[in-house]
Amino acid sequence: MTWSIIARDKASGCFGIAVATKFFAAGARVPFVAAGVGAIATQALVNPFYGTNGLRLLREGMAADAVVKTLVATDDGRDHRQIHVMDASGHVAAHTGPACIAWNGHVAGEGFSVAGNMLAGARVLDETAGAYLAGEALPFPRRLITAMLAGEAAGGDKRGKQSAALLIYGEEDWSDLDLRVDDHVEPLAELDRLERVSRERWMPFRRFLPSRRDPVGVTDRSLIEMEIARELCRQGSAMTSLIEIENLKVIFRGDRGRATHAVETVSFELARGVTLGLVGESGCGKSVTALAIMGLLPKGSADVSGYVGFEGNNLLGLTDAAMRDLRGDRLAMIFQEPMTSLNPSYTIGEQIIETLVRHRGFTRAQARTRAIELLRDVRIPSPEQRVDEYPHKLSGGMRQRAMVAIALACDPQLLIADEPTTALDVTIQAQVLDLMRSLKEKTHAAIVLISHDLGVVADICDEVAVMYAGEIVEHAPVDALFRTPQHPYTIGLLASIPRLDRRVETLATIEGALPNMSEIPKGCRFAPRCPFSSEACVSSPPPIVDVGARHWSRCVKAPLEGVQA
Ligand SMILES: Nc1ncnc2c1ncn2[C@@H]1O[C@H](COP(=O)(O)OP(=O)(O)OP(=O)(O)O)[C@@H](O)[C@H]1O
Ligand code: SF4
Ligand SMILES: [Mg+2]
Repeated sequence: MTWSIIARDKASGCFGIAVATKFFAAGARVPFVAAGVGAIATQALVNPFYGTNGLRLLREGMAADAVVKTLVATDDGRDHRQIHVMDASGHVAAHTGPACIAWNGHVAGEGFSVAGNMLAGARVLDETAGAYLAGEALPFPRRLITAMLAGEAAGGDKRGKQSAALLIYGEEDWSDLDLRVDDHVEPLAELDRLERVSRERWMPFRRFLPSRRDPVGVTDRSLIEMEIARELCRQGSAMTSLIEIENLKVIFRGDRGRATHAVETVSFELARGVTLGLVGESGCGKSVTALAIMGLLPKGSADVSGYVGFEGNNLLGLTDAAMRDLRGDRLAMIFQEPMTSLNPSYTIGEQIIETLVRHRGFTRAQARTRAIELLRDVRIPSPEQRVDEYPHKLSGGMRQRAMVAIALACDPQLLIADEPTTALDVTIQAQVLDLMRSLKEKTHAAIVLISHDLGVVADICDEVAVMYAGEIVEHAPVDALFRTPQHPYTIGLLASIPRLDRRVETLATIEGALPNMSEIPKGCRFAPRCPFSSEACVSSPPPIVDVGARHWSRCVKAPLEGVQA
């Protein structure tokens, strides 16, 4: 190697090796590591038997220093060799032969060892060791990569083009992580990138593989992919955003030039497989936001601006025909008012069949069979008969379910569900929510769920955006929002939920009403109702303040101290 680090992670017991070298196939001949046995790094292509024999000796229970002594003693080329070894207990031993003139040898500490030659230099070794020691809080693979990057920043390999590898072994015979970069101008930068990719994709995937603890593992691919999408979302990666909304604004033009600013600067992004809850009191702009995304606001009276990115296109720039193609296929919406979307002149069945024929190329016979299945899925009784009925013959709850069936017919990538369960009784409500969950699991759809029911939001959403007077005032992962809300309006909203664990005579409510959306206040829109309002709140719009991972609040007082819902 040019230089390498071997280490044992105290917390997990994993062994890891990171190495950078001039030779190609760095990972193939330099690092040797086995679960529960130990780790060895040797020079590239010089004596691979050090690795294979060394691991055998470690497996037989020999300690690191005895292994080094044994290997060196039986090697006639010992004066030219360099090797470092870690045994199962984390003890380190090393050898640099006297013929390795000006080689830099080893820097070892508790549970780690860095070794390198003159092509790297002593400073590279010291910086690598220093960064490893300083990186105790990092996840183990990141800690090793960070150490190597520090070595690289201190000069790295003077010859330029090299290879690099990172191997981590935990409890299993196979590696937890095996990343190799060959023949690359920036091998460590590339290794760093690969480590990030594997953290986002391989790590969540690996949890589902058969293991000693779970010999069967999880074989449901959709579950695995959903978990990967979630992980990406958690790590804030923009790579997988299915939909990106930036500065969405909707102004309704009314009589005598009156303008209603229904939605202002709404921005969020959503990864596949993630459910976002959109909450806020009546009239705050939830449905208008949804309709603007779907291209369903009346062109004559609604000015819609901003950016709605979906699979790389700005939906706001698409023609009506292109939007019609997307709706019912990759985009679907369950409307707050069932009769808005059900066509009274066609039977329920016709409306589903039309969607399947148009977007999925089904024959009419196939589409009819599928329509009956979908109606059965949403628990419509006697679907064989109901399929031929007109919407007005169905009860409100049944219409709502028919609409869910139409929306789910083509397995949309993005589903916006606007109060999808309001008209339904509790049992049917639970079934509809289950259907949405299974859509997510089956197709990794992203879902925006608009709901007044914070219990439902807590139950099925991953993230929540709280809207007030046309703006998102707080956005957070669901747990953080309910545990530590950071906007006074959210706190008020959560305090309005009836609590089963507390006897309340009257429900806490937020005093006052939404501002008139034709005369938007200059400062914080919530100021007239906010118990914490001060001069700074009314003079200019409050800033967006980051208060945690993927958690922000539009409030001058954020972060709020000691707040607990
Ligand atoms: N077609 C329209 N023309 C003019 N104003 C409209 C129109 N549609 C909605 N608005 C106004 O836009 C604002 C936001 O309404 P929206 O329907 O989005 O509220 P919401 O948050 O969905 O409320 P709810 O919880 O009651 O469904 C309201 O002030 C409403 O009066
Ligand atoms: S900016 Fe001021 S008025 Fe607005 S929510 Fe925060 S504390 Fe209340
Ligand atoms: Mg609404």
